[in-house]
Amino acid sequence: MTRQILVTSALPYANGPIHLGHLVEYIQTDIFVRFQRLRGHRVGYLCADDTHGAAIMIRAQKEGRTPEQLIGEMTVAHQRDFAAFGISFDHYGSTNSPANFEVCSGIWHNLRKANMVVERSVERLFDPVQKTFLADRFVKGECPRCAALDQYGDSCEKCGSTYSATELKNPRSVHSGAVPELRPSQQLFVTLTPLQEFLTEWTQRSGALQTEVANYLAGHFLDKPLQDWDVSRPAPYFGFEIPDAKGQHWYVWFDAPIGYIASTKEWCEKTGQSLAAWWQNPQCEIVHFLGKDITYFHTLFWPALLKMGGYELPKRVQIHGFLRINGEKMSKSRGTFVMAESYLKELDPSWLRYYYASKLSNKIDDLDFNTAEFVGKVNSDLVGRVVNLASRSARFVETVGLAKSYPADGGLFAKAAATSEAIAAAYEACDYREAMRLVMLLADAANEYVDQKTPWTLKKDPTRAQELQDVCTVVLNLFRQIAIYLAPVLPELATKAGTLLQDPITSFAQAQKPLVGTQLAKFEHMMQRVEEAKVALLFQAPEAQPEPAATAAPALAPAAPAAATADGPEALAKEPLAAEITIDDFQKVDLRIARIVAAEHVPEAKKLLRLTLSLGGPEPRNVFAGIKSAYAPEQLVGRLVVMVANLAPRKMKFGMSEGMVIAAGTDGEVFLLSPDSGARAGQRLH
Ligand code: MSP
Ligand code: ZN
Repeated sequence: MTRQILVTSALPYANGPIHLGHLVEYIQTDIFVRFQRLRGHRVGYLCADDTHGAAIMIRAQKEGRTPEQLIGEMTVAHQRDFAAFGISFDHYGSTNSPANFEVCSGIWHNLRKANMVVERSVERLFDPVQKTFLADRFVKGECPRCAALDQYGDSCEKCGSTYSATELKNPRSVHSGAVPELRPSQQLFVTLTPLQEFLTEWTQRSGALQTEVANYLAGHFLDKPLQDWDVSRPAPYFGFEIPDAKGQHWYVWFDAPIGYIASTKEWCEKTGQSLAAWWQNPQCEIVHFLGKDITYFHTLFWPALLKMGGYELPKRVQIHGFLRINGEKMSKSRGTFVMAESYLKELDPSWLRYYYASKLSNKIDDLDFNTAEFVGKVNSDLVGRVVNLASRSARFVETVGLAKSYPADGGLFAKAAATSEAIAAAYEACDYREAMRLVMLLADAANEYVDQKTPWTLKKDPTRAQELQDVCTVVLNLFRQIAIYLAPVLPELATKAGTLLQDPITSFAQAQKPLVGTQLAKFEHMMQRVEEAKVALLFQAPEAQPEPAATAAPALAPAAPAAATADGPEALAKEPLAAEITIDDFQKVDLRIARIVAAEHVPEAKKLLRLTLSLGGPEPRNVFAGIKSAYAPEQLVGRLVVMVANLAPRKMKFGMSEGMVIAAGTDGEVFLLSPDSGARAGQRLH
């Protein structure tokens, strides 16, 4: 029976480039989609950029352009990266689209009709320095549930709980570092309690969720009345203004998931299909892929919106864990926040697709990118066990092609054909690790066959030409079966195998019947081995890598004022040279390269940032630096600077300052110094 399946990946935020962590999700989804297509099902794979929210607005402001310009550039970059990794969306939209506004308005209308929108005056955090209400993302403090430090105002990255920004302990404005004040604001809430029973039933009994996810929801949210959901944000905000509430905007998490429907709508309009056939059709299976950090939104709030909007609920919400790099959390300062773009410069996207596939299961555990394992899987599994099957056989039959009838092979082909359903079941369950394991067993059997038959010796004896053709026909058919089974993961390899054997791979069912009598195209090498050094290069300290922001938006570096770039006598005139010193005088000053490992605002200090500097050794230094006017703390973390390391510690109002960071500039200008790449923290300047 042909199934109809609507598949989505979470909509990436438009405020940053695609990185290796994102790709876990998009590759996982794409494998599922390609698998279903190869099984002959009707699939729609939809995604879009998630464009709204305070973060985008503030970033655009900083860069001196409109949010529309920013998101326009980001979507091009995102789609370029996705295409390079073979992610086969049917349509890629944007949440900032007329289609999305329309679908949002429809759902909103229904919520109003059902009396599920309530208006309340609530105290919101207000930045007294910036004079604006603070979006949740711009307040940081301690998690009210688990007391983890440095958490955002909407949810805790440590314990996963969500709360309102006013519940944070010791809140600070991310912009100004000021302690936010409470001011009354009229807010709109969606109340979820009328749906509590429905959501409990759906999460616990529909089978749409992984068991661990269902249990998490039951234990953390559904055990008490669901909290009302604050869905409005006062201006300034980049988003849709709520049609019946002037000056209020839908919170980004209201319109983001609705973007799944809106993207489908655009696709349907483009291709002459009906939206209802995908979203209001009980026969259509809706499958969402997403990371565990956004579980709550997709398993409680989103189903509630779908239900009230008159749409079908997902048949399945497939949640994955987070990517770690060599055992550690991805981190900008350690250089492990690798952009898709940086990966693509040196490495083959197929390698990452296969590597992730070999690690992904149906569990929500985190997934570790391990350099040595990556190299091993590519070189020994892919190249050594799979691709070599073709290179070890194709050239011997280049002129004669495949045998006219399929020779006896001791049951190898039939056995591999019979594995088809087990492999398919593993793909269906998103247990790709198991699918890859089964395929590699087939590759082992095929390689054993080659080792036994030694085509290279048959080749030497012209009287055994038929035997040689038969052996190669078997090997190439076993190779082809494997290429078919791997086609969801390695579409390019499937294409190359199809070209070589003059029979395109378009369906999983092709693995059931051997191919005979075809000519062969000239053998072209199908995949390179990976060099370990190139992979290691990905995870370098950040100064050796392009800045993420710069790669996303190359034209955007803030333009320096002309006077600052042209050399002239002014600087010297302003600050004449100091009196002469001896080399011994100079050597008293111990200047060192230091890495900024943490940076934060000092509340109540107008000019200072508190920096934690590492000289490579075990004891970091606490230093207050008057650089707040020119640098935001998050910009600084990870970079190298020059410090005076033997300056006597000085007690300041806010704590001890253990050294000094040096910078150029007078009259409020501040320019930190960076060494050329290769320098390491702790090195002395001579
Ligand atoms: N914009 C929201 C999703 C809205 S869906 C209606 C968002 N965007 S995101 O860009 O931060 O993340 C997009 C997807 O990538 C999410 O499912 C997220 O879990 C996933 N990942 C982001 N970083 C990741 C890792 N480091 N590892 C694995 N998945 C990661 O959330
Ligand atoms: Zn917490």
